[in-house]
Amino acid sequence: MSVDWSARYQSGQTDWDKGEAHPELPFLLSTHHDLVGNAERILVPGCGMGHDASLIHSVAETEVLGLDLAAEPIAWAKKHYPAEKLAWTEGDLFQWPGSYDLVFEHTCFCAIPVERRADYVAAMARLIPEGGHLLGIFFLNPDHEGEEGPPFKVSLEELRGFFGESFELVWSDGVTRTFSGREGEGRERSILWRKKSGRH
Ligand SMILES: C[S@@+](CC[C@H](N)C(=O)[O-])C[C@H]1O[C@@H](n2cnc3c(N)ncnc32)[C@H](O)[C@@H]1O
Repeated sequence: MSVDWSARYQSGQTDWDKGEAHPELPFLLSTHHDLVGNAERILVPGCGMGHDASLIHSVAETEVLGLDLAAEPIAWAKKHYPAEKLAWTEGDLFQWPGSYDLVFEHTCFCAIPVERRADYVAAMARLIPEGGHLLGIFFLNPDHEGEEGPPFKVSLEELRGFFGESFELVWSDGVTRTFSGREGEGRERSILWRKKSGRH
C-alpha cells in the first residue's frame, strides 16, 4: 500500500519526526569525520523536516541536499534551516539524477514499500559513484508485528541481501543513543556501505 506522504504532513501524522536530528548522528559524524569532511556532495533522501541534513551540513561544510517527495517538509526545512550550500528540494529518489559521494539515510529505507526495496538499492547504486558511501541509521524493528507499515520491518541479513551486490559493508554497529520510544536492543542499526567497483 503506498502512502500519501503529503497528506501525512498536512494532517500532522508525523510520529517519526522528533523535532531534532537523530541522537546517534553526532557520534556517527565524529566516528566517520574523514569521510564526511572529504565528501564534496552529500545527499539526504527522504529528509523530512531536515533536522539530520542540517546537522550534517553544520559539520561537513560542503554541499548538502535534502530531498523529499513531499512539498510540506521541504517548505518547512527551507524556512527553518536556511544556509549556504544547504539545499532543499522536493523530488522522488527513484527518479533523482546526480552523483553524490556520500548519502545519509535515516528512516527512509524502512518507509519504502517492501516491493520497491530493490529499486531503492538500484537508485543508491546509480546516485553513488564507485568508492562512494551510504551511511545510514536503519530502523530494523518497529513496534508492530507482521507486514503492517510504514515503517516496514527489515533484518540485517535482509539488508545484506539487498545491498550486497552493489555495496560492500564497511562498518556496522548497534545504535546506543536514540529517541524516546525507539530504545531496545537491535531495533536500529548504523551501517556504512561502500559502492563496489564495476557496479551501476
Ligand atoms: C518516515 S519519514 C522520515 C523522514 C526523516 N528521515 C526523519 O527521520 O524525520 C520518510 C520520508 O521519506 C519521504 N519519502 C518517501 N518516499 C520517497 C521517495 N520516493 N523519494 C523521496 N522521499 C521519499 C517521505 O515523504 C517522508 O518524509
